[in-house]
Amino acid sequence: MRNTLINLNGALCGWEEAKISVFDRSFLFGDSLYEVVRTYGGRPYGISHHLNRLQKSAELCRMKLEWSLAQLESEILRTIKEHQKRLGSPQAELYCRIVISRGIGKIGFGLKNIEAGGSCVIITQPLEDFVTVDPLRGIRLKVVERLRNHPHALDPAMKSGNYLNNLLAYLEAQADGFDDALLCNAHAHVTEGTTFNIFYVKNNIVVTPPLDIGILDGITRRGILQSAQNLGLETREIRFPKERLYEADEVFATSTTKDAFAVTQVDSRTIGSKKPGPVTRRLAQSFVELAAELAEREAGSQ
Ligand code: PDD
Repeated sequence: MRNTLINLNGALCGWEEAKISVFDRSFLFGDSLYEVVRTYGGRPYGISHHLNRLQKSAELCRMKLEWSLAQLESEILRTIKEHQKRLGSPQAELYCRIVISRGIGKIGFGLKNIEAGGSCVIITQPLEDFVTVDPLRGIRLKVVERLRNHPHALDPAMKSGNYLNNLLAYLEAQADGFDDALLCNAHAHVTEGTTFNIFYVKNNIVVTPPLDIGILDGITRRGILQSAQNLGLETREIRFPKERLYEADEVFATSTTKDAFAVTQVDSRTIGSKKPGPVTRRLAQSFVELAAELAEREAGSQ
């Protein structure tokens, strides 16, 4: 937790001082929402996309955000700038996690129990602490037994603080010697990873599961689909079983912290040449350029 700066309800502090009540509903029930933003060239990318998704998550879980999106944006920017100032580098790349809890109060689901407003926490840390993928090796994924939540259960479109299902999927994959997990739904269709969206490439066509299968509407997923179109690659959003990944030319995953990163093994099958493939590399490069350009443009308009 070194090099962490925390904004707790508007007050900047270090991790030792940032405390949440044991009666906070995020602690008691996982009754919270979150987003993760990162910087490119020191500037955050896609804040408005992330905040709009936060708003959508709030609607899906019947939570009224106490802070306006404009207030949240200005607090995020203030925290990032202050952290960069303390690091002595305005271009330092930062990870930024925004966590909103519904409130603090008596134990019980009813909203009448809430006695104090929810906490808004913004945590910034050096991005390098989250970049764990070796770009030359890619990652090995296991399609785990555990299923992705049904959209009529804990809707995956909602980025809630309740990630226990994904965490257990991750532990299952790790216990079997893999880097991370991919989850299917009850129809044996591939949905997404524990903290990332999934794509495969076959005959230069870029394929990913559709949003209505029950996945997070990834901001990086959107950017990659846009980059693929910019590069003249055909894209398809369709349902598919895990065997499609076994036979793919390339498989890659996307998330805010890791952009687009190669998957070189799925279950016991090696994908392509066991190295990041040419389409993955082109898309990753094009996405990073797009994100950096948009981050610069957004900074200019703030
Ligand atoms: N995870 N799917 C899930 C389940 C996720 O948790 C995430 C993000 C994604 C990718 O979304 P995006 O491209 O907007 O980051 C897909 C974040 C990074 C996390 O939990 O740390």
